[in-house]
Amino acid sequence: MSFSRHHLLGMKGLTREEIEVILTTAESLKEISFRDIKKVPTLRGRTVVNFFYEASTRTRTSFEIAAKRLSADTVSLSASTSSLVKGETLIDTAKNLEAMNPDVLVIRHPMGGAPHLLSRFIRASVINAGDGLHEHPTQALLDMMTMREKKGTLQGLQVLIVGDLTHSRVARSNIIGLKTMGARVMAAGPPTMLPPHLEAYGVEVGYRLEEFIPRADVIMMLRLQLERQQQMLFPSLREYSRFFGLQPGNLKKAKKDVIIMHPGPLNRGVEIHPEVADGPYSVILDQVTNGVAVRMALLYLLLGGEKK
Ligand code: CP
Repeated sequence: MSFSRHHLLGMKGLTREEIEVILTTAESLKEISFRDIKKVPTLRGRTVVNFFYEASTRTRTSFEIAAKRLSADTVSLSASTSSLVKGETLIDTAKNLEAMNPDVLVIRHPMGGAPHLLSRFIRASVINAGDGLHEHPTQALLDMMTMREKKGTLQGLQVLIVGDLTHSRVARSNIIGLKTMGARVMAAGPPTMLPPHLEAYGVEVGYRLEEFIPRADVIMMLRLQLERQQQMLFPSLREYSRFFGLQPGNLKKAKKDVIIMHPGPLNRGVEIHPEVADGPYSVILDQVTNGVAVRMALLYLLLGGEKK
């Protein structure tokens, strides 16, 4: 199996074989993070620039840790401390970063398609770390790695995604990736938060959380993204929590080996009850651990893998 892409812009277009290569590579690189000396020389002399136009804790930190564990040099830049605040455009910013000859540019941007645009202007590999409402491919890959680790396979796995799918780039990337890998995807949420035509992507849609819970092998709760909603899409947070928040009581009807996922950050007490988030079915922190491994795998594969 080989991986010959130069950029990772989305889950769309990735083949089953390519996803398999990324996950298998991540699985083999994961143990490096548990050594006493958490570093290998694989990407020595390479430079990774993390450019985040939006806030991030997990994605930004894990890209930086992933690059350092492979011995790459890293630079992190945020919109508020760059010359964007003086009016420099995205493309000019990228061209100036490119002039310093980095090998990888990791970008998070509020505009869907920003990483795709940059990939046309610069030679470095571009990795999409989340673009607007569009995609968050590395989150989907770490989610799939976690599901595969806990459940053995993605083929035939029943995955329930709950909440604000309309504003969720995590959901979009997961749906594309999971369907490619042969999983069954169900979506539950208020009608105002479920995008039209989900069924056309092979997703089973429902408006009641309880109807899907008994069938789910995986329950993925989404963050309520109030900052992206133009208007309130439900009457109150309390009502949302009551009908679409995952409560301890919901799990009485779940499979005994169900796993609970959430991409973070959590709105505790809104989409997920703290007892569920911290409870025995939760794999939320495993997702974060696997985020480092998946990002190590991508840096390794995009920069040539074994070929170099
Ligand atoms: N899941 C995720 O993207 O988290 P951050 O926004 O903290 O990076």
